[in-house]
Amino acid sequence: MGFERVDYDRTQHAGYAKGRRLLPVSRRGWSRAFREHAGERRVRRAVDIGSGTGRFTPALADEFGAEVVGVEPSVRMREVAHIESAHPLVTYVEGEAAALPLDDASADLALMFLVWHHVPDHAAAAREIARVLAPGARLLIATTLADRLKDLVLYRYFPRTREIDAALFPTSVETVDLFAEAGFALASLTEVRHRSADSLAEYAERQRMRALSVYERLSEKEYRDGMTALEHAAATAEGPQPVEASCDLLAFTRL
Ligand SMILES: C[S@@+](CC[C@H](N)C(=O)[O-])C[C@H]1O[C@@H](n2cnc3c(N)ncnc32)[C@H](O)[C@@H]1O
Repeated sequence: MGFERVDYDRTQHAGYAKGRRLLPVSRRGWSRAFREHAGERRVRRAVDIGSGTGRFTPALADEFGAEVVGVEPSVRMREVAHIESAHPLVTYVEGEAAALPLDDASADLALMFLVWHHVPDHAAAAREIARVLAPGARLLIATTLADRLKDLVLYRYFPRTREIDAALFPTSVETVDLFAEAGFALASLTEVRHRSADSLAEYAERQRMRALSVYERLSEKEYRDGMTALEHAAATAEGPQPVEASCDLLAFTRL
């Protein structure tokens, strides 16, 4: 299956901050997971690669009391980040995973949250991330892995998104091998459970904003059919049922 790249400047920036807004409980849960897998090294400087609208960038600064550089190629996503995710310890700069505007060995932690599948040259990006991380520093990657797909509510209503994910994402072994090649050792691979919405109705409202890049790969009919089924389920649901999801988190140590 061939995939076109998703252009965040053209489409996704508009609904992203609202459609993907982090619930406070999820922000806390992810911050705990980042802390747990950040290793022993004191984090003075972190880099959020593909920081987007800055959903996690201030959370990293708060959790570690660290200066954080959010590196993001899309000017429109950076514009939203400057407005919605400003923080005294955070700066948002232009760049991409394979060209990071940071000095050699200058960061103690790197995060890539739902970014890895957008990166065109994985080997070049892994080498570049290795360059900017100090020895012993951790790289955290939150991503879907083709061999570890979860039972997502998304897949239930938009079944072809599961097929797309299986073809689009690398496997865990491919990812670990690629980073080993660039000078990293796998420290952990865990599953983080988080809340996507407080109810199915809230989840449906978020999906209406189409703030998932996978929707760009569905036909208009597939998207509409999914929304109809989802809205029907939301309207007939008894009481608010929180929507939870799991996501894999890989932690690598820079050797
Ligand atoms: C799904 S969004 C995730 C944004 C943010 N990490 C979050 O979780 O909200 C993917 C982001 O990756 C960015 N991106 C695309 N290609 C990239 C690359 N080669 N290097 C770094 N970021 C990239 C996009 O512009 C977009 O902002």
